[in-house]
Amino acid sequence: MSAKPLCHMAELPNPGSRELNITGESCFVVRRGQAVFVYQNHCPHTGAPLNLMPDRFLDYDQQYIQCSTHGALFEMDSGRCVAGPCAGQYLDMVPCRIENGALYLKEDKATGDAG
Ligand code: FES
Repeated sequence: MSAKPLCHMAELPNPGSRELNITGESCFVVRRGQAVFVYQNHCPHTGAPLNLMPDRFLDYDQQYIQCSTHGALFEMDSGRCVAGPCAGQYLDMVPCRIENGALYLKEDKATGDAG
């Protein structure tokens, strides 16, 4: 089965973040260098979306994912909360992979026209 990419690496700020709609679910992607991680947009604290502003999921220093509601901080590469009301809990990661400069769900197969 072939699939459309979720987005292209060239569309992602570095470092930065972007909201994604994956089969109707609100998700987001964070990027630092060539490392890219996708999570569901639910804070483990209350289940609320993490962002108030479009595409804004990182803290001021662009080091951590930050929940806009109560300020919880999460590691970009693991989704683990390191500070805030849900410390020790994890964001739900969406397994993805990069192929030909584009981001795909892990189980999807590239079409080859992604670049
Ligand atoms: S809803 Fe995210 S820290 Fe409270």
